[in-house]
This record gives sequence, C-alpha cells and structure tokens, in this order.
Amino acid sequence: MCGIVGFTGAAPAAPILLEGLRRLEYRGYDSAGVAVQHEGAIEMVKASGTVEHLAEMTSNGAALEGGCGIAHTRWATHGAPTDTNAHPHLSEDGRFAVVHNGIIENYAALRRELEGEGYSFASETDTEVVAHLLERYYDGDLRRAVMRTASRLEGSYVLGVLCACEPGRLFCVKEAGPLILGLGVDENYFASDVTALVGYTRNVIYLEDGEMAELTPESVTVYDRTGREIPKSVSHVVWDIEAAEKGGYEHFMMKEIMEQPRAVKSTIEPRIRSGRVELEGLDLTAEDFARFRRIVITACGSAYHAGMVGKYVIESLCRVPVEVDLASELRYRDPIVGEDTLLIVVSQSGETADTIAALRECKARGAYVLAIVNVVGSTIARLADCALYTHAGPEIAVATTKGYTTQLSALYLFAVWAAEKLGRIDEMRYNELVAELSALPARIQRAIDLNLHVKYLAGRWHAQRAMFFIGRNIDYAAALEGSLKLKEISYIHSEAYAAGELKHGTIALIDEGRLVVALCCQTALFEKMVGNIQEVKARGAKVLGLAPEGDRRIFAEADDVLFAPGGEPLFAAAPEIVPLQLFAYYVARENGCDIDKPRNLAKSVTVE
Ligand code: F6R
Repeated sequence: MCGIVGFTGAAPAAPILLEGLRRLEYRGYDSAGVAVQHEGAIEMVKASGTVEHLAEMTSNGAALEGGCGIAHTRWATHGAPTDTNAHPHLSEDGRFAVVHNGIIENYAALRRELEGEGYSFASETDTEVVAHLLERYYDGDLRRAVMRTASRLEGSYVLGVLCACEPGRLFCVKEAGPLILGLGVDENYFASDVTALVGYTRNVIYLEDGEMAELTPESVTVYDRTGREIPKSVSHVVWDIEAAEKGGYEHFMMKEIMEQPRAVKSTIEPRIRSGRVELEGLDLTAEDFARFRRIVITACGSAYHAGMVGKYVIESLCRVPVEVDLASELRYRDPIVGEDTLLIVVSQSGETADTIAALRECKARGAYVLAIVNVVGSTIARLADCALYTHAGPEIAVATTKGYTTQLSALYLFAVWAAEKLGRIDEMRYNELVAELSALPARIQRAIDLNLHVKYLAGRWHAQRAMFFIGRNIDYAAALEGSLKLKEISYIHSEAYAAGELKHGTIALIDEGRLVVALCCQTALFEKMVGNIQEVKARGAKVLGLAPEGDRRIFAEADDVLFAPGGEPLFAAAPEIVPLQLFAYYVARENGCDIDKPRNLAKSVTVE
C-alpha cells in the first residue's frame, strides 16, 4: 500500500528518492511522484504507472536538481489512479508539497471549508486538503503550520511535507501507519518501510502515533502532538540489501518459497535450548496462564489462515478453547474479551490496519496480547504486551509464503511451550514434539525437493476456470491458504471447503472435468477423505491428491498426486502448503500473471 520516502542531504535527492520508491514497489501502487526543492521553488513530476515510468520521465532523477525532497507511490483510495491524483500534491501557491499514506476521514468537510475560503482543488484526493491547510497556516514557522494542520485531520495518516521557502528542511507526521526515520552522515531520511532505507543506512528511529519529526541534513528532531521535543532511541536494522533482492530467481515469490527452510529454522532454532522450548519475552508463569480461560487469535488473510491452524494445534495440545476471528470482524463486534483472555495477534508486516484496531480493542478490554510478527519495531510489535518475532527476513512478494510458514512455526512453538506450562503433555510427548519442531526445516526442504513435477502439473491444469480445495481438520485450514495462494496470483476462481461440508451445498458446483485439490495429510482422516474424493469423482471432477510421502493409497483415488513429507500430523500444514504454493506459482506463471504484484493487491494493508 502507498509508500513514502523523504531525503535531505548534499547529494541530489531525486535519484535517491526514486531508488527508495523502487524498494517500496512491492507494497502495491498505481502511480508515483517526486518533488524536490530547487532555488526557492518546488519542482515536481508525477504520473500514473510505474516507478520506472517516473524514472524515464526524469532521466532517473537527473532532470530534477536539489538535495531535499519527498516521493510517493500511491495505491488509489480517493479518486482514480490518474496523473492528477498521484502524489505529491501542491498548495495553491506552489510553496508546499505533501505526500500522504492513509485516509483523511474528515476531508470532505475540510475541502468544503477551504473551497469556501477560495482555495481551488486540482485533484479528487483526500490529501490535497493538507497542502492547502499548510498554506493557510504558514506564517514563517513551518513546524507550527504542520502541527496546526495535523490537529485538523481525522483518520489515519502519515505525511511527508516539503516547503519551498525552508531549504534542506523536511517534516513528517505519523498518526497510524508506519513511518521510520533513517539516520545518515550529513544526510537524513524518512520512509514508510525499512527496505527503502537499508541501502543507505541501518540506523533508524521508529516513530509512534502522534509524533512528528523535523529533518535537516545535520539533525533529526522528534516532537509530540503538543510540540514538545522528545528523546528517541536509535535501532539498528539487521536486514541487508541482498535480503530484499531477487538473488537470481525470476520472482520474489519463488525466492521466498525456497527460503522457507532457512526462515523456519530462524524462527525455531534460537528458541530450542537443551531440548526445551524457551520463548524469550513471554515470561508468563503457569499461574499467569491458568487465569486465561480462553485464547482468541486474530489476523487477516493468510495470517488468519495460520491462526486457524494454530487453533487446531493449541486446542489439541493445551486443551484450552481457542477462537479465531478475522480482525476486520472482531474489531466491530463488541467481543467478549477481558482479563481472562489471551489474545494472539498474527501479522507478517505488523502494520495491518484492521489487525491493529482489533488488538487495540481487545487490549482496552483487558486482554493480554501476544504478537506473532515478522517486522521488528512494527506497530503491532510495539502495541503488544510481548512479541514473538518470526525472523523470516523481508518478504517482498505480495503473496505471503515464508511469512505464513514462519507464523505456523511460531504458533507450534507457542503450543508446545504452553502445553508443557499447563502440564497437559507428559515428558515423552514433549520431547517428541520438540524433536519434531527441530525437524521442521528439513521437512519443508523435503517438501520442496519432492515436488519437482509441480510445474508439469500446472501445465496440465492452468486453464481451469475454477478449482476447489478440500480437507479436514488441519488440512482444511491449509486448504484455505492453498486456495488463497492460487486465486490471488493466478486470478483463477477458487474456494476451499471442509470436505464434510461439500454435500451441504457446494457439491452442486462440481461439474465434468472440474479440478478438486484434496488434502489428505491428516492420516487419521484418510478414509473420510476417500469418501469425499469419491463423491466429487462421481460428479465428474478430476482430483489432485496431496498425501504424506509414501502413502501409496492416494494413487488409487486421485488423478494426479502431490506429496508432503510425513511426520507429526499436528505440524503437517507447514510442509503441505509448500506444493500448493508451488502449484499456485506455476499456474500463475503459465497464465502470464504478474506474480509478485498481483492486480488490485497491496503488500501491507495499512488502511481499513
Ligand atoms: C496473502 C497475504 C495477505 C496477508 C494479510 C495480512 O498472500 O499476504 O492475506 O496475509 O494481508 O497481512 P499481515 O500478515 O502483514 O498482517
């Protein structure tokens, strides 16, 4: 979703800003723009289309002189993705340029007010009101003008502000949505994502909601809403630039699929010491734990699917009731949550607007919040009572892969840890599960190695108009994720169903030649799945079966077969999703889809 970059220093700003925008492309956008200060004026270029298009229009930035500027990639919300609606937006007198992420909820009222005063608007965006407000409030003190402007805005916003008459000076404001300051030597930056900064500096400051920063080449000063200067600590980012590059793969998605054994190892290995699961930062005692009468897991999209798997695993091992709720639903349904609730929030980015809102809602009601999150220093990590980082490294492809499997790994760790704390498993079972956790990276690697023929199968099935995924229990939860992977990157309509539910309606959709992907990795339920496979075959469906490695029974049932390495069935979702990720990838590739940046999607959904 929208990306922001700001730079001030001695070097020409535009090429640095364009490079920053390239690093933010993965977030999803439909137009881009850049503005720099030059000889007391603002020069701006913006257009719908790609950052590359913007780079061509500006000779890769060389056409714009000046060492201080702001840039933006826009994901349209208010107004179509046109050249005019692209950011930055200028004030009427041309002295102020603004970039904005988020939504200004009271923009219509502000626009009417400003129009009443004679300001005219060039775009349909909510953002343009900010530029006009800055012009109205500026009396020679830019900080005061930014503060007064921010105090008029309602909603979620991150702003970058440039003023023609304040050489080398930038402001940025955060009110919901990520914003990070990058500290260089005689140059400073801001961006909505560390990936835009790591090529230049690893020293960063994470801003909180209600904070504003003033940047010059020599200094960075952070203020609260009242304008009081506040001290901030500097963090060091461990990701390097290579981690955010394709490394020889055609797509980030394939690179990230292949990285899963290593990523899962990074989630699990540091947390197993001398055969015990140790969750640093989660210092709940067995007594603390006993006060939780229930666990609620909340998240969006694939993270929600990971939460579904978590429910099965935690309930099975800990015998505590677990509810899984979509964050966008939980936040508005007056949830029954209190001090007896452990809320587990799952998020790769840590910046998903609905997930943040659900977290806040439950925390206000007294829930203890554990975040399972990838991005260190993200909003969710900071709002939670404790965070279990997944350490997946940067995930660039819009469709999550290693984000999901590392979330599963963290949930497995938590389940085993909690089951032992609650005394719900004996030492033998505990040791067995710890050994299974340690074996998970190898199991995922084996899942990759076993499925070299997925590309061939994708060639056979890519022309389907629709597909179905069915499974029971954990296989059902994994089916939801397999189906989402397929639809989001290949645009083939696909649905996942609990296999036992088919005959309650959905089976009416099965027609001659329709592909049904049947997940059969829960061996105890294999025979039940055979029944469901026969039901769909009797109605003309073709079946792609997914079974544990070596389980030859599947050959008698399915038309085509994929395998996932066997092992602890409770942890089956992590290896079994791998062939489904590969299947979605190759089907999308066959169909010529934009795999890393599927249409209409954004990586980090920072608006509701
Ligand atoms: C799908 C996908 C999304 C995200 C969802 C939550 O491939 O990536 O469904 O899982 O938008 O994002 P995070 O985990 O960043 O909160």
